Amino acid sequence: GVISAFIIYSKQFSRPINELAQLYGQIETAIAGAERIFTILDEEEEDKSGDKDFKITEGVIEFKNVNFSYVPGNKVIDDFSLKIGAGRKIALVGSTGSGKTTIVNLLMRFYDIDSGEITVDGKNIREISSDVLRNSIGIVLQDSVLFSDTLRGNMKYADSEISDEKMEEAARLSHVYKVAERLPEGYDTFLTSAGANLSQGQRQMITIGRAFLSYPKILILDEATSSVDTRTERHIQNAMVRLMKNRTSLIIAHRLSTIRDADMIVVMDKGHIIETGNHEDLLERKGRYYDLYMTQFAGNET
Ligand SMILES: Nc1ncnc2c1ncn2[C@@H]1O[C@H](COP(=O)(O)OP(=O)(O)OP(=O)(O)O)[C@@H](O)[C@H]1O
Ligand SMILES: [Mg+2]
Repeated sequence: GVISAFIIYSKQFSRPINELAQLYGQIETAIAGAERIFTILDEEEEDKSGDKDFKITEGVIEFKNVNFSYVPGNKVIDDFSLKIGAGRKIALVGSTGSGKTTIVNLLMRFYDIDSGEITVDGKNIREISSDVLRNSIGIVLQDSVLFSDTLRGNMKYADSEISDEKMEEAARLSHVYKVAERLPEGYDTFLTSAGANLSQGQRQMITIGRAFLSYPKILILDEATSSVDTRTERHIQNAMVRLMKNRTSLIIAHRLSTIRDADMIVVMDKGHIIETGNHEDLLERKGRYYDLYMTQFAGNET
């Protein structure tokens, strides 16, 4: 009797302890979360140190012996060196996971490199305010982000002072006017942030339109792999070609036409450059580009 009573009591007694232990676990998780938030806040604090008056005038980009890993010990970018002259068009190709998007992440300073140097117009990007850096590089991504605002507001997002004439000029060049024509209230149609009332191609056109307005010296394009209809596709292509004129462009290319148009093709593998050259030279070499071409691009002729 005494023993069973003891067991029952001890069970009851241990319940609050278990609850306390659980609660402690939750507190611990919360503290860990808060620490992460503070780490992020601290990092952003650091970012504000750079030059706020820096202007990209030429658009020369240089990567010098860049090394980077997202997770310590797992190198993603390995001794990457590349100089891109003003106004040049570079197509970055390579199999999935080779580090193409990472290169863009590093140039935009979404992550800091482990060693080496990245410069824009000769200035180390660590010494440029991140806001200034990001605002001076035009970026057209696969998944374009729109704001909950009108089409007009979305086009002018960089600077609401932009005149309607300028906005419409950019819309003409980027073919966004075609998107506007189909919307019930034209440029005043309200778009949802998820862009549910627009197709992917239309969303991408709007981001290209924005890039026409901000007129950056450096452009980054991550070509969409998903299929849009051929007409939209052609509009996007033409708009991109016009947009890239006289600008330094770094293109993560998926289409053969874009690759052929590039001044130089850079082939990446496991975070470093294995081949560079133009389409014909690289095909002749029968190396990795040739393999990529045969498996990925040959059937993708547009
Ligand atoms: N945020 C991240 N955290 C950890 N590892 C990452 C992160 N982003 C990418 N990686 C890893 O880094 C490597 C390079 O990825 P990256 O996205 O640069 O490849 P990619 O060449 O752009 O590929 P894809 O053609 O599929 O877009 C991959 O091994 C990937 O798993
Ligand atoms: Mg990628």
